[in-house]
Amino acid sequence: MEQAIKIKPDIYYVGSLDRTRKHFDSFYPVKKGTSYNSYLIIGKEKTALIDTIDPSKKDDLLSKLESLGIKKIDYIISNHSEQDHSGSIPFVLEKYPMAKIVTNSKGKDFLSDLLGIKENLFIVVENRKTLDLGGRTLTFLSFPWAHWPETMMTYLNEEKMLFSCDMFGSHYASDDLFYDHDELYEYVEQYYAEIMMPFRNVISKNFDILKGFDIEMILPSHGPIHKNPKKIISLYEKYLSDNVENEVTIIYLSMHGSTEVAVEFLSQKLKENNIKVNLVDVSGMNISGLLRAIISPLTVILATPTVMGNPHPAMQLVSIILKEYRPKLKNMAFLAMYEWGTRAIEMMGATCSYLGKTNLGSLKIKGYPKNTDFAKLENLAYSVINNHKEYFKR
Ligand code: FEO
Repeated sequence: MEQAIKIKPDIYYVGSLDRTRKHFDSFYPVKKGTSYNSYLIIGKEKTALIDTIDPSKKDDLLSKLESLGIKKIDYIISNHSEQDHSGSIPFVLEKYPMAKIVTNSKGKDFLSDLLGIKENLFIVVENRKTLDLGGRTLTFLSFPWAHWPETMMTYLNEEKMLFSCDMFGSHYASDDLFYDHDELYEYVEQYYAEIMMPFRNVISKNFDILKGFDIEMILPSHGPIHKNPKKIISLYEKYLSDNVENEVTIIYLSMHGSTEVAVEFLSQKLKENNIKVNLVDVSGMNISGLLRAIISPLTVILATPTVMGNPHPAMQLVSIILKEYRPKLKNMAFLAMYEWGTRAIEMMGATCSYLGKTNLGSLKIKGYPKNTDFAKLENLAYSVINNHKEYFKR
């Protein structure tokens, strides 16, 4: 039998680790697995389950509840309707048919639609409403777009614990519930980039909600619990702010070496001028590292071979990703290698216009780079360098 883990008296972890998952959302590589976190809070009168878990792991959740001898659940709090948190609600209801699902009105619509949950099983709560469990009070905080429009968080007043669902999470399966090694924060950052970055504008507007609460512990729905919430809150403040770094991310791939030579030259010139350079090779459509590298650079450069007149398919995927994830960078620049014709610059430039970024320059190089091409590459590098100098002088 799976054993629940005690966090505080009558507050338990009843979630599940998933070390076999390779991708999340059938897209993001998950190198360290993930966890689906669910928490049980037992008050003097009522018992509440905060979110459930991915249905593939439902038996872990049910077994952990059994390990505690739980005979009755009064409330299933659904902070977020996505199935990695809601998918086991029907199985919990099967075992605890008296439970009511507590969520907001959008959450109710989504859960009805996604899981076919009946109308009479819901208790709909508004923003800032509270629910008394007997000596323990839950406050519901609407937090739209962290990660879906219905998303909310739950604050346990007496214990100052914030159940934040997706926000502050990480795809990191750890036996230590409170794992806090530096390495974890690479995965926290990656998770922010994958899940929260597209909604940065709206999340940053709502982020001050948290300032009204004394938070001693953050319990997300993926990855370890944060016993020292100041650290992750300040990281999120940095990610969500409009501030950018004196960094250039060059996203590139090379089929026969000529793009790589040009990228290395550009990179060297930028580094000589004290700009941090992140090189992201997207060969084979490998997006590992790409999203983290676009969180906060001032400038992104796309460098691609031409394939059938267009940017390489992997670079076309990059353009789609940039449009969807809307990073806060200010500038872009472009490099296209070709032999007999290319529309690559125009296509990548359209991405820049769509995003409303400043285009610092474009360069087409025919064949393997020659001396005249290196002179043009140096000009492109200085267009970026001068912009960075000016920007950070402010
Ligand atoms: Fe972990 Fe948006 O679900």
